[in-house]
Amino acid sequence: MKKIVIAIDGFSSCGKSTMAKDLAKEIGYTYIDTGAMYRAVTLYSIQQGFFSDDKLDEEKLESSMNDIHISLRFNPETGRPDTYLNGVNVEKEIRDMEVAGKVSRIAAVPFVRHAMVPLQQKMGEGKGVVMDGRDIGTVVFPDAELKIFVTASPVIRAQRRLDELKAKGDFKSTFEDVLANVKERDEIDSTREEGPLRQAEDALVLDNSYMTIPEQKAWLLEKYHNIVGS
Ligand code: DC
Repeated sequence: MKKIVIAIDGFSSCGKSTMAKDLAKEIGYTYIDTGAMYRAVTLYSIQQGFFSDDKLDEEKLESSMNDIHISLRFNPETGRPDTYLNGVNVEKEIRDMEVAGKVSRIAAVPFVRHAMVPLQQKMGEGKGVVMDGRDIGTVVFPDAELKIFVTASPVIRAQRRLDELKAKGDFKSTFEDVLANVKERDEIDSTREEGPLRQAEDALVLDNSYMTIPEQKAWLLEKYHNIVGS
């Protein structure tokens, strides 16, 4: 069967990654979480002290870009890839609120995007990938055979994110904190100059505010089969 590139873009916390992972598993594709790569650069910047409060020292980050090595390695226990930063598994750390609060700032830096995009293109060059992000269908793989743009209301996304944090044992964050973070990220992600979050003209829109996970899965599988013709 022909292999394609599936680009899944959309807002933060709208269940893109769950959906993309499930789809990849179902059709035997590799799942690539590009947000994890920006999160790893953010974690590195925090560890190196490039942030003082919310201010980022871009010069220091730029001169360290060659020291940042990010890879995604399949974890047979979870059936999903884990993110490695300079050889260390940082899958857990990159999901915490500190990284979430700073990652949009990092993802808006042009030289960071110029470093990440070619890595992502390399990861998808053999096709057979489901790649989730913000600019996959517009910048990374503008020729992707299937492009999905996922959206849901901010309140619903904040509630989902809060449930996720609680499931991971984070009971510190309140609904208001998470909602503020979701809205702030939407604003930064959609208004940045470089690779802003926007729907590709040929993307199919999926508003999953009131859809169950099985319903989304069925929707996606149908679109996939329509393209590969089986
Ligand atoms: O999908 P996520 O929440 O893990 O993404 C983290 C951040 O990285 C979010 O602010 C958007 C940004 N991002 C991006 O700018 N481009 C991508 N391809 C993926 C994520």
